[in-house]
Amino acid sequence: MNSLSPASEFPISQFADLLTRGFEDYFVPIHIDEDAFLTMLRRDSIDLSASRVILREGEPVGVGLVARRGWTSRLAAMGIVVNARNEGVGSWAMERLIEEAKARGEKQMLLEVIEQNMAGVKLYEKVGFKKIRRLVGYKIENPQVEVRHQLEEMDIRELGRLVTYHGLPDLPWQLTGATIAQYTPPARAFRINEAYCLISNPSAADVAISSVLVKTRSRGAGLSRVLLQALFANFPNKIWHVSPIYPEEMAFIFEQVGMKREDISQWQMSLAL
Ligand SMILES: CC(C)(COP(=O)(O)OP(=O)(O)OC[C@H]1O[C@@H](n2cnc3c(N)ncnc32)[C@H](O)[C@@H]1OP(=O)(O)O)[C@@H](O)C(=O)NCCC(=O)NCCS
Repeated sequence: MNSLSPASEFPISQFADLLTRGFEDYFVPIHIDEDAFLTMLRRDSIDLSASRVILREGEPVGVGLVARRGWTSRLAAMGIVVNARNEGVGSWAMERLIEEAKARGEKQMLLEVIEQNMAGVKLYEKVGFKKIRRLVGYKIENPQVEVRHQLEEMDIRELGRLVTYHGLPDLPWQLTGATIAQYTPPARAFRINEAYCLISNPSAADVAISSVLVKTRSRGAGLSRVLLQALFANFPNKIWHVSPIYPEEMAFIFEQVGMKREDISQWQMSLAL
């Protein structure tokens, strides 16, 4: 028999370990230690009292991580350990999680799933999720660009506010202003004119571009290109990563500076509750 327990009843280390085991043999290697897990909780508004450990005959076999903001919740992760997959546990748990979200008075549930993840896509469509758009990622190694513009550093929280105001209203959860505002140093935010970005610690060899924004009235003037090239020039000899969470309609900003699309893409999906 299957059952669910609140994640808040489990020690953080045990839950993080179960999450890692739920993502064994995944499309990208996932290892979630306690620190990484605590950052995820804070940044993505994951609610441990609404998140669930999935048990089969009393044994933990999976997790469903649920994030919540206002009327909306997000399935932040769902993972079933290898030896319990493809036996209906995921489908059973997903139906319960949807019922619980309705009972909490929420109006929609969101998620992102790797497009190439057949079991995941099938499961979420089966319980009623609809595709909103494709999300894409990019990469470039050591782009050679001369310094022409200086970057002005700004408070990450201010960038969060600007994204909330100027960004697409249905941005994927991890790109929303509410998420961006939760980033802290060593991540850094920069602007040139009315173009803004957030990057992970630029002292590292690999740097993630976690947000790019051009104010509505300044779009169409090539500012995102100026900004990204200024990043490449001011922090040379880096491998730059854009994880596959960006709406496909934003892809041109990365393509125009020579970044290459990653093989893995995602579907942004939603379910009206
Ligand atoms: C995706 C996952 C959560 C699904 O849980 P599960 O318990 O294996 O799912 P179910 O047994 O309920 O199967 C769901 C559907 O996917 C199908 N399916 C399962 N494995 C499949 C595979 N490898 N290829 C294609 N379809 C598959 C099942 O047949 C079922 O469809 P059906 O109801 O029409 O028969 C689980 O496989 C998993 O943890 N994978 C690794 C982590 C992950 O991908 N998480 C999701 C992204 S957040």
